[in-house]
Amino acid sequence: MKTEITICLGSSCFSRGNGKNLELIQEYIKTKGLEAEVNFKGQLCTENCYRGPMLIINSQSYYEVTKNKLIEILEKELNRHE
Ligand code: FES
Repeated sequence: MKTEITICLGSSCFSRGNGKNLELIQEYIKTKGLEAEVNFKGQLCTENCYRGPMLIINSQSYYEVTKNKLIEILEKELNRHE
């Protein structure tokens, strides 16, 4: 089953870190060669801005995703496919 990553691209999340997180995730997928295993898409604001930047991986929501936290999350969520 593909890993589904959905990043919030609403203006609040985007300016609070998801702009960078977006690039980081794309980079991560590319470097690890996970293109075929990951479905990466954006979504609009879900009114969780106060806990942003947020993203969802396989229906699990992650909030206040800093750069370091994002790497940890990606390692955890994507390594099981290796
Ligand atoms: S902008 Fe992401 S939840 Fe509102």
